[in-house]
Amino acid sequence: MSQATDQLAERDSRGATDPIIQAIDVTREYQLSGEMVHAVQSVTLDVNRGEFITLVGRSGSGKTTLLNMLAGLDHPTSGRVLFEGDDMANFSEKQFIGLRRHRIGVVFQSFALLPLLSAYENVELPMRIAGIGASERSKRTNEVLDIVGLSRRAKHRPYELSGGEQQRISIARAVAMRPNVILADEPTGELDSVNAAEIFGLFRQMASDEDMSIVATTHDRTLLDLADKIYTVHNGQIELSEVGENIDAHAQFRRPDA
Ligand SMILES: Nc1ncnc2c1ncn2[C@@H]1O[C@H](COP(=O)(O)OP(=O)(O)OP(=O)(O)O)[C@@H](O)[C@H]1O
Ligand SMILES: [Mg+2]
Repeated sequence: MSQATDQLAERDSRGATDPIIQAIDVTREYQLSGEMVHAVQSVTLDVNRGEFITLVGRSGSGKTTLLNMLAGLDHPTSGRVLFEGDDMANFSEKQFIGLRRHRIGVVFQSFALLPLLSAYENVELPMRIAGIGASERSKRTNEVLDIVGLSRRAKHRPYELSGGEQQRISIARAVAMRPNVILADEPTGELDSVNAAEIFGLFRQMASDEDMSIVATTHDRTLLDLADKIYTVHNGQIELSEVGENIDAHAQFRRPDA
């Protein structure tokens, strides 16, 4: 076995018994003007530690709805979502806040940057809220801005940044928190192919080197070979379409614009 396959096997054997998030027979329906929308239907999915999962599917297939439930931001109509074995539906407000503050980072499809704060402040704020000390905050903020190639845009407000730059700031914000899981919704939707590949390379590296779990949705099939598992989402259902045997576990992340 190659070293890369070895590493994967090791991750799999460890991860298989130790999922951080589990969706069990999860369904989400919306009632809209008398019509029922089956956004997610009977999805069962384990997110293991150190695993990079991609969800690929057409617009309207249910990716965002599923991701929001994995993040505990939305609750299933039926079925359960467990975080480290505990049903998120039973979490108190305090537990949920702790989860979002320290354990789960979300990259929203719409970025959700605060318009009055600079790029630097947008990245730094969640760490401030989480009680991380000033020098550590500053170190991490500078580091992630450098990683996404936006050190020179630190003082810009979101409206002074391009769509792709805003997207990279929202990714930097999630990465800086060093959560156990990053749930990223179309994190490369605004990026050109080079930057998109580099962001997926960064996710690959965080999963392999820092044991972070990543779930990222995408329309872009060219990015998929960096993931451990690829699920296709279709009409609210998921199907495991590939387990990455050909993945490049040693893919080196190269800073955008480097
Ligand atoms: N709040 C809502 N009320 C009613 N229907 C909804 C709601 N949110 C989503 N839907 C429907 O659920 C389905 C899944 O939507 P979702 O946003 O999860 O798709 P998606 O795969 O993320 O699409 P995209 O790739 O365009 O982001 C769609 O048919 C959508 O119209
Ligand atoms: Mg979506």
